[in-house]
Amino acid sequence: MAGYLDRIGAGKILLDRAPLSYDWVPSSLVGRDNALSRLASIFSQITNPSVSCKAVVTGPVGSGKTVLTQVFSKDLKSHLQGRRKILHTHINCRNHPSGSQVLQQIALSLDERHPERGLSPGEVVQSIRRYLNARDSHMLLVLDEVDVMIRRDSSDVIYRLLRVDEGKDESGTLSIILVSQDASLLKLFEPAIISRLGASNSLILGAYGEKDLLDIATQRAQASCLKGSISDAVLSKIARYAASTGDARLAIELLEASVIRAEGDGRSEVSISDVKPSEVRISSLEPNTVDGLPTHQKLILLGICRRLKKDDMISSGDALKLYHVVCEEFGYDPRGYTTFWKHMKSLENLGMIESRTDSAIRGRGRTQHITMSNLLPGVLEARLSDILPID
Ligand SMILES: Nc1ncnc2c1ncn2[C@@H]1O[C@H](COP(=O)(O)OP(=O)(O)OP(=O)(O)O)[C@@H](O)[C@H]1O
Ligand SMILES: [Mg+2]
Repeated sequence: MAGYLDRIGAGKILLDRAPLSYDWVPSSLVGRDNALSRLASIFSQITNPSVSCKAVVTGPVGSGKTVLTQVFSKDLKSHLQGRRKILHTHINCRNHPSGSQVLQQIALSLDERHPERGLSPGEVVQSIRRYLNARDSHMLLVLDEVDVMIRRDSSDVIYRLLRVDEGKDESGTLSIILVSQDASLLKLFEPAIISRLGASNSLILGAYGEKDLLDIATQRAQASCLKGSISDAVLSKIARYAASTGDARLAIELLEASVIRAEGDGRSEVSISDVKPSEVRISSLEPNTVDGLPTHQKLILLGICRRLKKDDMISSGDALKLYHVVCEEFGYDPRGYTTFWKHMKSLENLGMIESRTDSAIRGRGRTQHITMSNLLPGVLEARLSDILPID
């Protein structure tokens, strides 16, 4: 009997893998209420059948631009039900980088029998307009990663789409949301396009902070995994690592990788050590950055690394105790409390450790909790043990 196959479908942790994929669209967005409200205000006149709206959404990688426009489009469509018929088309220009491909995709989204060749861009735009008008429909077009098309083929297609109704005695055929990582997207356009887009229609998303990333990871974990299989500590570790980039995709990647690792081991709970950022993305500091540290900073760091190899965080009290242990081991006299704290501050300023006062843990005074996001404790421990001189 092939016992190793028992794990397939055992589902000790995973109930549904779909929410761990990037394409999964959550029913509600985390921490983007203001951004959704801002879009709603840009589209405030959309109930009027002769109105078209335009918006430009920019923000860094993984800041939720794509999912924001998806959720907004879906919500808007259902909000306008019975008042205005909305046809929503989302095109990623990275997959269709030329202007004519983009136009073709728009036409195909309306009519899959749209002829592939033989029409000029102007003719395709007019056939899109006729199709929509004949069906009394309004198109909400999202051009995602639009800078890819503009850099390759200029903004001609956007100009044509923005002018779709001009000279036709019609209005309100098509609304556009342009999406890009490029914060200076508007600079790529000619003044005629900028004035049509309207300078005030721009929405800039910021990178996610740790709290939002924790909520995003929690949302995915709840949607995909059995209750109780992923602890808050695991989710916190994921959020903390992802916060170094502010990229929601990194939080989801870390979650998926740790779930797969735990399931692969046949366990029913994800442990803190299953979260291995080094395997997903490379840590941001090189281990040799510790070589030039003063000896007592090396000793403090070694104690911290030993604990962080096993645990997600260490309290400042434990860091002090471990420093004493390491000093004894290497034959040094431990420095006093004030010097210890000065060294801790220096390590933090160098980005080697992070510390915070955890308000959730009560009754312990001002305990600081120390974590390490930019270095791998195991690698550092080995290096420090090698280079520390024995006194
Ligand atoms: N506020 C949020 N709530 C829930 N999930 C989110 C949120 N923001 C992003 N995500 C999820 O994180 C992943 C990355 O988000 P998304 O693809 O929208 O980022 P992006 O800004 O478009 O990135 P890129 O610049 O690489 O295109 C997606 O799976 C998305 O569903
Ligand atoms: Mg995107």
